[in-house]
Amino acid sequence: MIDLTNDTALNSAMERICSKIGDMGLKYYIETYGCQMNEHDSEKIAGMLVKCGYTKADSKQDADFILFNTCCVREHAELRTFGNVGFIKELKQLNPRLILGVCGCMMQQKDVADKLYKRFPFVDLIFGTHELKNFPFMLEKVLDNERIINISEMNGEVIEGLPVERTPGFSTFVNIMYGCNNFCTYCIVPYVRGRERSRRAEDVVNEVREVVALGYKEVTLLGQNVNSYYSDGVNFPKLLEMVNSVPGLTRLRFMTSHPKDLSDELIEAMAKLDKVGKHIHLPVQSGSDEILRRMNRRYTASQYLELVSKLRSKVKDVEITTDIIVGFPGETEEDFEATCDIVRKVGYSNAYTFAYSPREGTIAAKMPDQIAQEVKKQRLNKLNAVLAETIPCGNKKYIGFEGDILIEGVDHRAEPLLFGKLSNFKMVYVQGDEKLIGTMVHVKVDGLRFNSLFGHITD
Ligand code: 5AD
Ligand code: SF4
Repeated sequence: MIDLTNDTALNSAMERICSKIGDMGLKYYIETYGCQMNEHDSEKIAGMLVKCGYTKADSKQDADFILFNTCCVREHAELRTFGNVGFIKELKQLNPRLILGVCGCMMQQKDVADKLYKRFPFVDLIFGTHELKNFPFMLEKVLDNERIINISEMNGEVIEGLPVERTPGFSTFVNIMYGCNNFCTYCIVPYVRGRERSRRAEDVVNEVREVVALGYKEVTLLGQNVNSYYSDGVNFPKLLEMVNSVPGLTRLRFMTSHPKDLSDELIEAMAKLDKVGKHIHLPVQSGSDEILRRMNRRYTASQYLELVSKLRSKVKDVEITTDIIVGFPGETEEDFEATCDIVRKVGYSNAYTFAYSPREGTIAAKMPDQIAQEVKKQRLNKLNAVLAETIPCGNKKYIGFEGDILIEGVDHRAEPLLFGKLSNFKMVYVQGDEKLIGTMVHVKVDGLRFNSLFGHITD
């Protein structure tokens, strides 16, 4: 672990930049792609930029520093990033002091970063996922007109003490671990985020205390595979218990859970800890045992279904969401039908569906029997139709349901309605005063409109 809270070199670099540009009124704009992990990295970069004297810009046109924080997990990411970067050339002509940076998972792939560096001479700064902590040093050089590309091959460490500029609201993220050791054969994450490493439990708890003091009510603990969190004798269920007892915290969520590591102890913890949301994101990826085996997921469809029934029997009103890939190499019609089948059996409350896209460097990209694009598209459409049928079925049981929602905002689409989520992530709309935003209220669900729950405040 490297603690940078009082790091003289880092703080002096940020101070030097601040005294150089502090009164120039420079603004930053960060565009983030991909998962919450990336979003949270962007909040850390924003934290450093604020310490360097930058303020947030409302648009790219308004910015003196634009950063693309890229993702490479799914399809077309490269094409989109190269397109976005190309568009900035014009802005650079309008604002000669504009700095353009590109970072994140895609830039951790050295060949892609090199290609971007060569193709777009107006990109000033490129850095990979393990270089966050060196951002101020790189920025300082770029402000002195150097062009920087910095991709380190190391696996990364746990870095503490970077400033964070959090997105305002009621809910925020806290990392509990970084990287992944699972090597699902389709996935690029272990290659671009490095091996799994957990933060110390006391650092996690302290950060949760800090965000509660800042006024956040809900915290989502983040990791690629939170169930394998382990640090100095503290496993994930114990960590949940520690965070659950932070005074002032209202709701606690976590993601993502790998089915192979979902322990009975965690299910018990979800059931008994009052602040822990009764919701789990449990990616199934496929319903076919053969595809699951080739994906290296290390569970079978029936083991997954057993977990689901265990969750349902122990955690009252639990809701389950998932990720699914169609068109994995060698996927037959029967394999695909098995996926539709498991979707019907589980009854998810939501699902993210993807057409398999080969990621260079992963095992699946080299597998024979890659599926044609049209077939993947057809299967994706069919799967989405199954979900569109099954998801709303789960809503009917909520008529008459009572529970607490944390009011997030007002929806103005038709009549103004407050909205917020139940502990299990189900969204409920109610009439009420805007002053209630950010508070927890008790509601009763009266009915359904389209696919949403509508109710009234009872206290
Ligand atoms: N192709 C399609 N989907 C993918 N995912 C990860 N890698 C790929 C890929 N190569 C999906 C998985 C994962 C989610 C975050 O992205 O479903 O759970
Ligand atoms: Fe990728 Fe599998 Fe790790 Fe998730 S668990 S990040 S899908 S390798």
